Formats: sequence, C-alpha cells, structure tokens
Amino acid sequence: MSAPRPGVLITRRLFPEVLQRLGEHFQLRDNPDDVVWSPAELIERLQGQWGVLATQGDRIDASVLAACPDLRVVANMAVGYNNLDLDALARHGVQASNTPDVLTESTADFGLALLLATARRITEGERYLRAGRWHKWAADMLLGAEVHHSTLGILGMGRIGQAIARRAAHGFSMQVIYHNRSPLDAATERACAARYVSKAELLRQADHLLLVLPYTPANHHIVGAAELAQMKPSATLVNLARGGIVDELALAQALQSGQIAAAGLDVFEGEPQVRPELLALSNVVLTPHIASATRGTRLGMALLAADNLIAHHQRGQLLTPIKASPSPSL
Ligand code: DGY
Repeated sequence: MSAPRPGVLITRRLFPEVLQRLGEHFQLRDNPDDVVWSPAELIERLQGQWGVLATQGDRIDASVLAACPDLRVVANMAVGYNNLDLDALARHGVQASNTPDVLTESTADFGLALLLATARRITEGERYLRAGRWHKWAADMLLGAEVHHSTLGILGMGRIGQAIARRAAHGFSMQVIYHNRSPLDAATERACAARYVSKAELLRQADHLLLVLPYTPANHHIVGAAELAQMKPSATLVNLARGGIVDELALAQALQSGQIAAAGLDVFEGEPQVRPELLALSNVVLTPHIASATRGTRLGMALLAADNLIAHHQRGQLLTPIKASPSPSL
C-alpha cells in the first residue's frame, strides 16, 4: 500500500491546470469560492497540512505557525513576501518560496501603462467623456506631462525596476536614474541605460518617480511628507510595490495641494480598502493590484508555486527559495 499523500492547502481559487498538477502529488484542500479567510479560518484549514500555496494576502506569522505544527512548506504565489514572517518560519523549520522572474516583464509593462495613464490623464479623460462633459475640443483640455525624453526615477532596482528602465530608456528615450541599497554592476547599468543617484537627487530630479522596492520594516512609509516635499510640483508618482511604502495620507495631501501633479497606485496600505482621501481626487489613477494580472503570468506564478511544493516533496529542495537577504529586491 502506498504512503498517504501529504496535504496541501490552496488558499485562493486557482487555475484548473494548477489543481491538476498538484493533485498528482498531494491531497488537496482548495477554496473554489475564493473566500478570503480570517486568520482563525486559515489556521483551521491548515490543520494537518504539510504545505500551503499562499497568496500575498495570507499572513503567515508566528501565531499561525505555532497553531499549525505539521506545516513544512509555504509556496507564496507572489514575488513579494512581506506577508510571511521569515524569522518565525526559520524558527519553526518551515521552508518558503516566492515567484520571481515569471512576472517581471508583464509587471514592467503595467508599470509603464500606469505611468502613461497617470501622466497623460487617460482615466481622468475617460471619466470626463463618460460623464457627458466633453462638448468641444479645446487646446488646453486635460493637458498632461511629457513622458518621452523626461527623467524617470526608479526607487528599487531589482528585476522589475530594470525591466521598466529598459522600456523607458529604449522605448521612450527617457533619462533613467535610480536609487537602490547598492548600485548595479556596470554591465547591468549599461543594459538598462540607468544612472545611480542618491535618494535625495532621485526625488529632486525625477519627472516621474516609480516605486518598485520590496516592503520591509525599513521601507515602511519610505515616501512620506518629507520626501514628497522634495519632488517637482510637475512630478508624478507611481507605486507598483506595496501600499505601505507610501504614507498615503501625506500623498493625498500632496496631490490635493499641488505639491506633486499626479499619482498612479496599484497597491494600497489597507487593500482592498482605499482611503477616501485618495478616492476623492481626480489626479490619481487607482487600480486593484493588477500589475502582474495577465493570464499567462498569473498561471506562470501559480505553476511555479506548485512546482516548488512538488520539488520540495520529491527532492527536499525548493526551486525558488526565499533567502533572508539584507537587500531583497523585486
Ligand atoms: C507580487 O508578486 O508581489 C505581486 O504584487 C502580486 O501579489
């Protein structure tokens, strides 16, 4: 008689291909109705499970781990992993993986799209038209900011930042400057035509500032009132990373007072709740955490998470383990 298959919990509704692949190796418990579980519900469903395919909204911390002693592997379907308490995972001997690379290019596409929508007032223009307010062409109607040949500042220059830099420099003839914990090597800098600057210079020089850095305790509200005050009044800010990187109240005030011109936000500190102060503004483009949302990319992320569970089960090794690093990148 063969050994019973280990149990794997899938916390959110996923693609049939992923369930099929995992089902060949594990006893699955899934969530076809895509209910967002409370921490207590997550703990209840994790009882007796060997592994979990989690998403960025599932907080797996010391209290979850203490209550789920059978859990051995967490496969996070995201490149970001601020939902995981890495110290607690290490203490409990639980291995964890993320999904780097598979989402880099589509997330970079979205970064440019959000920047363009924000700087060129695309969603504001659509709302204006749909509201029946467009009665005549006007030379000064909905004037936006130049994107081509402008200066793009990137805060956080990992894989996604570099993919955005290549698009911006080679596709839009932008000057790309960046700030990171450490500069890239010269060959990588050349490939993405980007120049390392201090954070202060980045804030001062950027016509468009794009945030693609991982959310760590050190990066909490790394862009707040003091940073916004250093930016150009004509500047746009785009956040693709995690909401907690930006002090959203300070941002709403800066957008309202004209301290900066516009913002594009795909992520929010209390998502899916969005601050009413942001919802009330017309100079902010708001999207529901969809930067990696193409079918191919989301399927690729889910399959990579599944393959991490299978690799660990078969060979005791993850394909893309999360390594606690002093300078993580996206
Ligand atoms: C990621 O992979 O970190 C994206 O934000 C999706 O959650």
